[in-house]
Amino acid sequence: MKTVLLKDDIYWVGAVDFNLRNFHRYSRSPEGSTYNAYLIKDKKNVLVDTVDEEYCGELLKHISEIMDPTEIDYIICNHLEKDHSGSLERIVEVCKPEKIFCSVMGEKSMKAQFNTEGWPIHVVKDGERLNIGSRNITFLETRMLHWPDSMVSYLEEDKVLFSNDAFGQNVATSCRYVDEYGSANLLQSMKEYYYNIILPYSPLVLRTLDKITKLGLEFDMIAPDHGLIFRTKEDIKFLFDSYVEMATQPYKLRAIIAFESLWGATKKMAYAIGDGLNSVGIPYIIIDAQENHCSMVMNELANSSALILGSPTRNNMPLVNMLGVIANLKGLKPKNLVGAAFGSYGWSGESANIINDELVAMGVEVVAEPVKAYFGPNEEELAACYELGQKVGLALKEKVNA
Ligand code: FEO
Repeated sequence: MKTVLLKDDIYWVGAVDFNLRNFHRYSRSPEGSTYNAYLIKDKKNVLVDTVDEEYCGELLKHISEIMDPTEIDYIICNHLEKDHSGSLERIVEVCKPEKIFCSVMGEKSMKAQFNTEGWPIHVVKDGERLNIGSRNITFLETRMLHWPDSMVSYLEEDKVLFSNDAFGQNVATSCRYVDEYGSANLLQSMKEYYYNIILPYSPLVLRTLDKITKLGLEFDMIAPDHGLIFRTKEDIKFLFDSYVEMATQPYKLRAIIAFESLWGATKKMAYAIGDGLNSVGIPYIIIDAQENHCSMVMNELANSSALILGSPTRNNMPLVNMLGVIANLKGLKPKNLVGAAFGSYGWSGESANIINDELVAMGVEVVAEPVKAYFGPNEEELAACYELGQKVGLALKEKVNA
């Protein structure tokens, strides 16, 4: 990859990880990802964020194509997670910057992660302005998007927002801009990133978008640290509109049935539930939790508002992959869902009730009693599954049409 001139004296100097398939070890990234970093040439030369440690050499190579790394005066650390700060120690050692800018929480995180003795750390407040010569940068705190330390940097004169994790997507491509890449898969990439990372902080997303609107900021370019850059008015509007929709999570007419099975009984139940959904006109997808990473459920949840989970009982508990799906869901806190639970059993049969209680605890509106099948499922039990699918489907239709 080569450096890319984004605007006069503003460069992309990051790295593309084409083969990353396990983003942050908790979310699949079938299209890879990118670690974007940016260089601004001015009276003070500024590096905005670094990259994963593995790509530090590439970052230095890119910087060197534009200037000697020792000419960098300022480093901005918008966020101290390793995918952006993994190269920081080495970059500080090579560049010997005059100042390193971060938020209050950023300083705390930086000092905990690195030997910062002698580092010229400068903590910035929300809204603080930095003059770098012919340009000014405003720092805006975006706590919890995606860590407590997170902030974004707005380059006023060029109307460029360096948004760090916010507005990112796991996309690896030689294209740097959305308008070069095309939008066919972009929205789903944005959704998968949002639903697996940003979703629990949706109220803060809405607050941040509101804050940006009230500040009257204008944007020529939204440059996140993962994926593609938005630079046309249409793409920037599409981005903001999509974020409002993802953060508000309106009901969507689609269902997910996720199950785990030992000898196939719970699987048969899942398919009967699907038939019930189908009979009332609800599109659905079935996910086998043993064959898919738990982030798949989140990916699909981006387009669905009914969640039906099932597992047989083993040692008084649901199976472990289903427990993983539930734990992932609980942490990511999806909203506006209807659902139900099911599961087969041979001995005690607690699983469907446990899943039902977990759905209730995570705020899912459970609209049908859990369905259990003793070994089977026999015809009566399959009919109960079909009916469960219908009940969930009709409840979802009501929500969508409300
Ligand atoms: Fe891209 Fe929260 O790190």
